Amino acid sequence: MTARIIDGKAIAAELRARVADEVARVKRDHALTPGLAVVLVGHDPASEVYVRSKHTQTQAAGMASFEHKLPEDVSQADLLALIAQLNRDPQVHGILVQLPLPKSLHTETIINAIDPAKDVDGLHPNNAGRLAGGLAALSPCTPLGCIILTKSVHPSLEGMNAIVIGRSNLVGRPLVQLLLNENATVTIAHSRSRGLAKLCAQADLVYAAVGRPEMVRGDWLKPGATVIDVGINRIPVAGGKPKLVGDVAFQEALNVAGAITPVPGGVGQMTVACLLVNTLRAACAIAGLPAPAV
Ligand code: GUN
Repeated sequence: MTARIIDGKAIAAELRARVADEVARVKRDHALTPGLAVVLVGHDPASEVYVRSKHTQTQAAGMASFEHKLPEDVSQADLLALIAQLNRDPQVHGILVQLPLPKSLHTETIINAIDPAKDVDGLHPNNAGRLAGGLAALSPCTPLGCIILTKSVHPSLEGMNAIVIGRSNLVGRPLVQLLLNENATVTIAHSRSRGLAKLCAQADLVYAAVGRPEMVRGDWLKPGATVIDVGINRIPVAGGKPKLVGDVAFQEALNVAGAITPVPGGVGQMTVACLLVNTLRAACAIAGLPAPAV
């Protein structure tokens, strides 16, 4: 068997086009221009690439994009003052502070300062708690993207066995909640879980989000399983550019899985597209409009 490759690039492009249509509609009918503010502290090269991509795609969708680049040694008080200003700014409907932050800053305090109504990363405890309680919430973008990719293969996840490997606040934990909302049966595993291969063998849906290159092997998988690889690991190549690999041994998995996301070109593409969705949703909610049809 050769697995179907789930084309994250195409699915993300379709989603961005739907967001752009809805943005055009709220601009025309309600004079509302959704706006996203992205805050980048320091010069982490990977973060700089992500932030540039967020800026370009936000503008391409017809939204306002506000970039705030702060020096590595910015004080916590100055960063909190910027967040307070963005919380008050009526042109800003979404606030994203790019992570990781330099060690001198207290990430939890910074995230908690964001107005939950503008928390398009879904990381504020109000949103994380609402999601865990099965209530409407802004949810983290990468897990939202994982669900959309899964549904491109299985329109209903009801009763399916899913395993989520990884328990980060950004991916693993919220993904578990979103899968529960879809009525999947969820096993939560992580880097310290024992017998991972056996746990995976039961799963119709495998989500790998541990940040360990090619940890999930082909022979761990149930034949026909759908595999969503969230890992983006840079492997040094002697004398060349680093190679990007996921948390799944892709070539091995191709022979066993029913469908699989590639790295790159899978989940990564979906994160920014879902950030645009969250910004549009936040803008509509703040303006008292019905939820947009995306
Ligand atoms: N760094 C890597 N991914 C993300 C993300 O989705 N949100 C934020 N804020 N930082 C990130």
